[in-house]
Amino acid sequence: MRISDCQIVARLAELDVELQPGTALAGLTSLGIGGTTDLLRIKNHERIPDLLNLLDANHIPHKFLGGGSNLLVGDGELPWVVLQLVRPEPDVVLDGNFAHVDAAADLGRMITFCAKNDLGGMEGLIGVPGTVGGALRMNAGAYGMQIGSYVREVKLHRAATRKIETLRGHQISFEYRHTSFAPDDMMLSVTLELPSKLFKEILQGIRICNEKRRSSQPLGQKSAGCIFKNPPGASAGRMIDELGLKGLSVGDARVSDRHANFFVNAGRASATDMLVLIADVRERVQKTYGVELENEVVVWNA
Ligand code: EPU
Repeated sequence: MRISDCQIVARLAELDVELQPGTALAGLTSLGIGGTTDLLRIKNHERIPDLLNLLDANHIPHKFLGGGSNLLVGDGELPWVVLQLVRPEPDVVLDGNFAHVDAAADLGRMITFCAKNDLGGMEGLIGVPGTVGGALRMNAGAYGMQIGSYVREVKLHRAATRKIETLRGHQISFEYRHTSFAPDDMMLSVTLELPSKLFKEILQGIRICNEKRRSSQPLGQKSAGCIFKNPPGASAGRMIDELGLKGLSVGDARVSDRHANFFVNAGRASATDMLVLIADVRERVQKTYGVELENEVVVWNA
């Protein structure tokens, strides 16, 4: 979708929004898949209500992009514009055991920065690509921990009230790869309370998690992490592996040889290739195990 009306373009500039016309989302997603649309980069959180009013008044649908690392975007010209926060500098401010973090901060860099200041707890998430906002919305987790456990406060633009609000940790529910945030809520910043731990000890934890991840996941390849959620008490990766589906391909979309719940873009996979592969694997798992796998990856299909 293209914004061509000069008045809207001028208003976007007034709202501190940088318009990047005709952006290929393939370049902004870790899968390297996705069509083209206008990208609106938000420099000032406080202007978001006005920005959304402007888009609504002009019937311009939108979606909100974090780091693009858990996302499968449709092909071709996309029927909505994409909003993304510009990362401020600094994006993490420490105050004792509290870390005030902008949603656009890189998750791994935030964990490392906190570690260098003797704040730990998040070691399991090292190596998970994406922004802090994305990790928060999905309640990213790994190796027995989840980001939600450390959340004390979240500033967000709430779709229901169309206002910027601050929620306390206890007002938010964090479950396995799921939160009580509404789909259109925009994460803006978060306050985490992290346990004190010596950098040397945190580093050991980080090294162990990195090693586990390197040995079991296709890190150098284009993927969106795990495609399916684990069903209660089972592992989607193990089920797909047991069915002998590693290497199964549709075009360049391929079930990873290393971890069967990672589907990689081995070249020039389209979203359609990936969606056909996902549907095929889901059907085979359903037939054999009687389990309907639920997507972990977020799909933005036109
Ligand atoms: N397994 C296989 N074959 C495979 C993959 C896994 O047999 O191809 C077996 C493993 O040997 C292990 C079991 O399945 O016995 C579980 O595998 P793993 O430890 O890799 O964990 P997972 O359940 O597949 C989850 C998260 C990952 C997270 C890891 C580590 C989900 C859907 N996945 O994977 O998160 O990194 O644990 O904690 O919850 C993600 O969210 O995108 C993601 C990759």
